[in-house]
Amino acid sequence: MKNNINNDLLKSGFIQEKIPENMNLVNEIAKLKNEKNAVILAHYYQQPEIQEIADFIGDSLELSRQAAKTDADMIVFCGVHFMAETAKILSPRKKVLLPDLNAGCSLADSCPVDLFKEFIKKYPGHLVISYINTSAGIKALTDIVCTSSNAARIVNSLPEDQKIIFAPDRNLGNYINSITGRQMVVWNGACHVHERFSVEKIAELKKAHPQAKLIAHPECEKPVLIMADYIGSTAALLKFTLSDPSKQYIVATESGILHQMRKKSPDKSFIPAPPNDSTCACNDCSFMKLHTLEKVYLCLKHEKPEIILEEKLRKRAEKPIIRMLELSNKLGL
Ligand code: 13P
Ligand code: SF4
Repeated sequence: MKNNINNDLLKSGFIQEKIPENMNLVNEIAKLKNEKNAVILAHYYQQPEIQEIADFIGDSLELSRQAAKTDADMIVFCGVHFMAETAKILSPRKKVLLPDLNAGCSLADSCPVDLFKEFIKKYPGHLVISYINTSAGIKALTDIVCTSSNAARIVNSLPEDQKIIFAPDRNLGNYINSITGRQMVVWNGACHVHERFSVEKIAELKKAHPQAKLIAHPECEKPVLIMADYIGSTAALLKFTLSDPSKQYIVATESGILHQMRKKSPDKSFIPAPPNDSTCACNDCSFMKLHTLEKVYLCLKHEKPEIILEEKLRKRAEKPIIRMLELSNKLGL
């Protein structure tokens, strides 16, 4: 895996230990959580069994808010590395654990710090907006962080003549340009999961299910977004399916979100949008799916692997995240 995570962290980091076969992991996790005053935060893309043991499930914006306000002593982050790192940036005195340190993000990896430093030098006078899917090093070079939930509103809140660099997702950046009329300079990064949906297969599905609405995450490529009936962050997609009267949806984002959609609307049906290659489960984020109940148990028991951040970097990365949280509150998001 090409990675901007420190090489030492490339190992999965969890303590391997034989777990008795008859152990009730859900109960043991609950016990350890109580003993250690820990909280489990999980992203919507986690496996259903992880979502079921989480204290809070959310999109990247909500999870960062939860990380900032929790009074737990320990955060077990069932998401990817940049999400756990954001939790550590916002809650430096808490122990932040990531059950498997290999849970990276291809989008965050598509924006290495050294290349981004050179890139922003070419655009003096530009404000840097970075998607939360970035390393702490990129956040430290950023003016305002955003997530897919608030990106458009944050951009719209800035003066019209403000020049902007947007990183790292080209699809989200171009989508925001198209709906805001801005001409942000967009870094050429992408997520390998959201770029794999097949327009042809989605079109066939739409034909076979004419009543179904296509709902898509803005990290998808333009041809998919053009076809979509609704575009939004994972939380926004879920919310849409709750209030919208349709009974069937084709869902163009990571398939983990379907668990909550099916749970909250058992009378509706949800079809995962098909990837180009029908032989792979490419609409699953392999990084997100690394966490298992066994790893969560071992990570709580041994309090490892832990996210560690150098204080100087943490402070620099914190500023643009706080700016995002303040702006989001001000904008009523
Ligand atoms: P959300 O902002 O919708 O949580 O998306 C995060 C992400 O990683 C999407 O791939
Ligand atoms: Fe990163 Fe894509 Fe996985 Fe989201 S789905 S965490 S953007 S690799």
